[in-house]
Amino acid sequence: MRRTIIITGGAGFIGSHVVRLFVEKYPEYRIINLDKLTYAGNLANLKDIENRPNYRFVKADICDFDTLFALMQEEQVNGIIHLAAESHVDRSIKDPFTFALTNVMGTLSLLQAAKLYWECLPEKWEGKRFYHISTDEVYGALELTNLEGGNEPGGGPFGDTFFTEETKYQPHSPYSAAKASSDHFVRAFHDTYGMPTIVTNCSNNYGPYQFPEKLIPLFINNIRNRKPLPVYGKGENVRDWLFVEDHARAIDLIFHKGKIADTYNIGGFNEWKNIDLIKVLIHTVDRLLGRREGEDLNLITYVTDRAGHDLRYAIDSSKLKNELGWEPSLQFEEGIEKTVRWYLDHQEWMDNVTSGDYQKYYEEMYSKR
Ligand code: NAD
Ligand code: TYD
Repeated sequence: MRRTIIITGGAGFIGSHVVRLFVEKYPEYRIINLDKLTYAGNLANLKDIENRPNYRFVKADICDFDTLFALMQEEQVNGIIHLAAESHVDRSIKDPFTFALTNVMGTLSLLQAAKLYWECLPEKWEGKRFYHISTDEVYGALELTNLEGGNEPGGGPFGDTFFTEETKYQPHSPYSAAKASSDHFVRAFHDTYGMPTIVTNCSNNYGPYQFPEKLIPLFINNIRNRKPLPVYGKGENVRDWLFVEDHARAIDLIFHKGKIADTYNIGGFNEWKNIDLIKVLIHTVDRLLGRREGEDLNLITYVTDRAGHDLRYAIDSSKLKNELGWEPSLQFEEGIEKTVRWYLDHQEWMDNVTSGDYQKYYEEMYSKR
């Protein structure tokens, strides 16, 4: 069926990969990227596809119900993939209010606009999809019982428990509390009104175009510039890393084939202790820059731990594999090599982001049109 899809947060990290995938793979679809362009939104992430005939960018806030409703009517939208959010845990600790506003009230505005628009159509929910992208952080933290994590760093689980789709929600940070609340609202709109919703909860993503406040791009840039690497606590926290393009592929599959009202966990079975991952980053950057490998290990600087720092995340994504056949396509070593190369080759992108110049891109590209 012909789809007109609003992708919210399409100028951000994961959203830009999802927009690119849909614009390129489905020329018959109309893809509307709706984004407020907060500090995390960067239209330069989509430079390569911005002139495609099946793509439109709309600068708008997901909290602005009237604009959302009017856009859905104007474009006759029949699909929504919702990624827009405040996404950084450290910021949520400093400013929880903004996280509640965007992640909870913004999601609710989007749900309500879609409900009112779709409900009044003769065919109602038929052929519609509201797909909400969420995080594994809503499940809280797992125990870390195997400190070594298998034979190799990243080579095995750091404990025998995993987040499954049945795991109880137990968010700890203001970020995850707000995402958990938004997940509940999405499910409530299915259970109460029959809205065709899907929720997925994914582990930590990495890859090109990630804002350099998150561990991997921040540290690659710091190693390159020989700046200290602030490791929180002892660096023993464990995260399960997934290459962003694999997440985008999963979103494509689930948007088209996922069961309405269902939940899928997405993860790479790829756990890494922060300090081990950081050492891999140092070795890779050093090697690719022609430095002596490991020369920059002295940049590691242990700093005060993050408040409420979740110890371990690990996703069991076997439901997605068994039901829809999805698996990550990249081995971590390959993904990290690709990612480090990308940041080193795109220094201009990084410089524009760190200097704030990227925020002028919208004015230059779109205000003239
Ligand atoms: P990001 O911070 O890189 O991008 C967020 C985007 O949302 C930005 O373009 C920003 O401008 C936009 N936005 C923020 N507030 C908005 C508002 N009020 N109205 C419209 N647009 C707004 O985030 P990301 O890392 O790409 O994450 C995208 C989604 O995926 C989020 O919902 C996040 O919770 C979820 N997620 C992220 C990860 C991860 O590792 N990054 C893992 C699992 C789930
Ligand atoms: P981050 O990329 O912020 O993702 P999340 O908090 O959503 O998992 O952080 C990944 C891990 O790296 C997390 O355990 C916190 C840690 N970290 C540091 O040790 N130093 C840093 O400067 C940052 C940003 C994160």
